[in-house]
Amino acid sequence: MNILLIGSGGREHALAWALAKSPVLNKLFIAPGNAGTKACGENVALDIEDHEKVVAFCRENLVKLVVVGPEAPLVDGLADSLRANDLLVFGPSKAAAQLEGSKGFTKDLCQRANIPTAAYGRFTSALEAKKYLSSQSYPIVIKADGLAAGKGVVIAQDEAEALAAIDNCFEGAFGSAGAEVVIEAFLDGEEASFFVLTDGTNILPLATAQDHKRAYDNDAGPNTGGMGAYSPAPVMSEELIQQTLDTIIKPTVEQMRAEAMPFQGVLYAGLMITDKGPELIEYNARFGDPECQVLMLRLKSDFLPLLLACAEGTLDKVEAEWFDETALTVVMASQGYPGSYEKGTVIDDLGSDFADGSTMLFHAGTCEKDGQLLATGGRVLNITARGATVSEAKEKAYTRLQSVKWENGFYREDIGWRAVEREHKK
Ligand code: AMP
Ligand code: GLY
Repeated sequence: MNILLIGSGGREHALAWALAKSPVLNKLFIAPGNAGTKACGENVALDIEDHEKVVAFCRENLVKLVVVGPEAPLVDGLADSLRANDLLVFGPSKAAAQLEGSKGFTKDLCQRANIPTAAYGRFTSALEAKKYLSSQSYPIVIKADGLAAGKGVVIAQDEAEALAAIDNCFEGAFGSAGAEVVIEAFLDGEEASFFVLTDGTNILPLATAQDHKRAYDNDAGPNTGGMGAYSPAPVMSEELIQQTLDTIIKPTVEQMRAEAMPFQGVLYAGLMITDKGPELIEYNARFGDPECQVLMLRLKSDFLPLLLACAEGTLDKVEAEWFDETALTVVMASQGYPGSYEKGTVIDDLGSDFADGSTMLFHAGTCEKDGQLLATGGRVLNITARGATVSEAKEKAYTRLQSVKWENGFYREDIGWRAVEREHKK
């Protein structure tokens, strides 16, 4: 089978790597891919915003399944255009991708389906939003409604911060994503992520994970797309996983289907584990990055049939097998990220992965030029390892990382600290 995978990050290298192992795969195209995905298939230059061109490419190259990595093309309706042309797609329709594309949409859906989430209000004017504040307590969470690359959320400690965040949003800091503001009660607890596949009816739970959003050690510094992650998330007991399925995931899938917007693809729930149990913080309509990298290193089953079953509506016929071990990934980023950074710095040496297959270096923002490997993005490499314990996975990942020679790179030294602490307490 020929597959087209859309995207260019570490997530897509991990997806490409997992797909390339499948005996069912004939040819994998990655658009546009990165220097790492070249080893898994053929990188192709395709204008993803031009849906007709993507359809034409699939026809010419006998592509049967299109796997969409990032959220933007989903929110843009790429899956709808492909399905309208009888192509199989892994990824939700534009309507279903609103679960990620509009925080207000998701909050209203939660209300209709009685899904546990923070109390909230939706506002299209600063005046109304500010009025709402007078009845609230602090801290409080101010969010731009639309896609803001993870930057549209402010946890305001007092009224002055909340007022400033509201003004910032309506003054255009996030463009059209900030035309509406959601104000939410602050939830206290430990965060975890839970990934499931769904074909709109059936649900196949995948795994749990936790990531590190802040740029520097001790969870300090600005928010990033994620500086590291590990799976499973120790906080997510079997009981909490079941509770999340029963009170959050199943009602969401059912409500979306009942409202004629069946969600098909991977549903990524951002959860807060509060005293009352799991509550939904947000949904994403795609795999997490770098969470996907740890999931793929833990997956034992052939990945391709799972994605195909999701696209064909036969998810009840497949199962996923996992390594019981923990996988952990450390992101190497360009100095300066998430602020401005130099592009095109040379990566001298990637080192090599362990012979036993327990480590894997995934590329994110890389390209090859004139025989040199260059860093082109903020997040550049994901050094990923599997171990019997979190401590072991962590040690392996950092050992593997030492063999990478890239002067302009930086990374956090403490990925997994919370899970390691929990392990030591046992
Ligand atoms: P979101 O983009 O909605 O996931 O928000 C980004 C981050 O802000 C989350 O990962 C949480 O750390 C934090 N956050 C968002 N909403 C809340 C909330 N209601 N209570 C506490 N923290 C939150
Ligand atoms: N690592 C967070 C995300 O992918 O949204």
